[in-house]
Amino acid sequence: MNNRERFSSRLGFILISAGCAVGLGNVWRFPYITGQYGGAAFVLVYLIFLVLLGLPIMVMEFAVGRASQKSAARSFHVLEPSGTKWHLQGYACMAGNYLLMMFYTTVGGWMAAYIFKTLTGEFKGLDSDGVAAVFNDMLARPGYMTFWMVLVVLLSFFICSLGLQKGVERITKAMMSCLFLILLILCIRSVTLPGASEGLRFYLIPDFTRFTENGVGNTIFAAMGQAFFTLSLGIGAMAIFGSYIGKDRSLTGETINICLLDTLVAFLAGLIIFPSCFAFGVDPGQGPGLVFITLPNIFNQMVGGRIFGVLFFVFMTFAAQSTIIAVFENIISFSMDLFGTSRKKTVLINGIAIILLSLPCVFGFNIWSDFQPMGAGSTIQDLEDFIVSNNLLPLGSMVYLLFCTSRYGWGWKNFLAEADTGKGVKFPAWARVYVSYILPLIVLFIFIMGYYQKFK
Ligand code: ALA
Repeated sequence: MNNRERFSSRLGFILISAGCAVGLGNVWRFPYITGQYGGAAFVLVYLIFLVLLGLPIMVMEFAVGRASQKSAARSFHVLEPSGTKWHLQGYACMAGNYLLMMFYTTVGGWMAAYIFKTLTGEFKGLDSDGVAAVFNDMLARPGYMTFWMVLVVLLSFFICSLGLQKGVERITKAMMSCLFLILLILCIRSVTLPGASEGLRFYLIPDFTRFTENGVGNTIFAAMGQAFFTLSLGIGAMAIFGSYIGKDRSLTGETINICLLDTLVAFLAGLIIFPSCFAFGVDPGQGPGLVFITLPNIFNQMVGGRIFGVLFFVFMTFAAQSTIIAVFENIISFSMDLFGTSRKKTVLINGIAIILLSLPCVFGFNIWSDFQPMGAGSTIQDLEDFIVSNNLLPLGSMVYLLFCTSRYGWGWKNFLAEADTGKGVKFPAWARVYVSYILPLIVLFIFIMGYYQKFK
């Protein structure tokens, strides 16, 4: 057995992988994308993608990680047939992890800033427009946003520097447990608001005419992007956790647990946001500010709203933080695998790098707001998100797929043997034709169609 660090328990592995999956994708991105793409019909397509695409690809990432005992930077070197170039995917994975953090840390900073704003009563007595103005005012202040972004980065790297078990595992376990509790409480409050039923209808009863409003291809492309984003697939972010576990459990069973947890959190987040949008007359299609513009309204109307508000943003920050920690763990592990540097030194160098790399996203909302790379009104954040969610994640996932199914890669037999080692649900061997041929074609087709619709 090698001396690689390991999780101390199965629960640790599941909660950390779920922590990597559960994040701003669930509580921030999922509600606003669902709002933009018309509600329940979008949710349905998204759920189909989670099962058809997300599940098998996550099993593959874990299998590659566990078999190689390396991060994505080195895993392909270990498993690829000699003379092949699969390891180039390692570089795409590294780029993906950095790029994801380049905008993620900013939104994590917003969440943390909102703890403070709620605590100090900044939203007290404001109507919906007043709440929206607070958000827009924050976007206009680069120094303020940089402060919170840096704080979130430093805290996450500090936790990573404590090590896998003492830092990452211990803290994520606690954060994830609290997150579930607060989500449940807020759900109950939101669905019992007067006027909530219209929001529930928007969120839960599919209306396929809304599908066409944004273009069918665009909507499906967005649903696929969200499915990959929420599970952090295609950039090796999940694969690494496979490298920290033993062989006693089969990987499909663990993956199902993680996907269920992830879906539950996203679903609950939607149940909180949409009823309150409709109850307070907030447009659900307004984009990235949605959570920040909707929720303070609810807290204003709740008995003990300030306490609940603070708790909510504390746990949202946890959700973001658990993903940031997981991705930082990847970034750190890449560097340690590649250069053999110590954990402490790697943490220091990457901490500084991530802070600098996060600045364009912050500035994109204010001093660089004239740069609108994705069309009128868009920001640098939209561009970074697009590169990651609609390009690196699906294409990277396709590489994992082909690597695990093609005889020119690691191959089906090796993959299946690794995935099925241990107790628990086995990977459906009958699905071989589907995952080897049909699934890559689906991803490619949607990818091309999405590009066509977006830029035609
Ligand atoms: N999977 C991560 C999230 O949902 C990136 O936030």
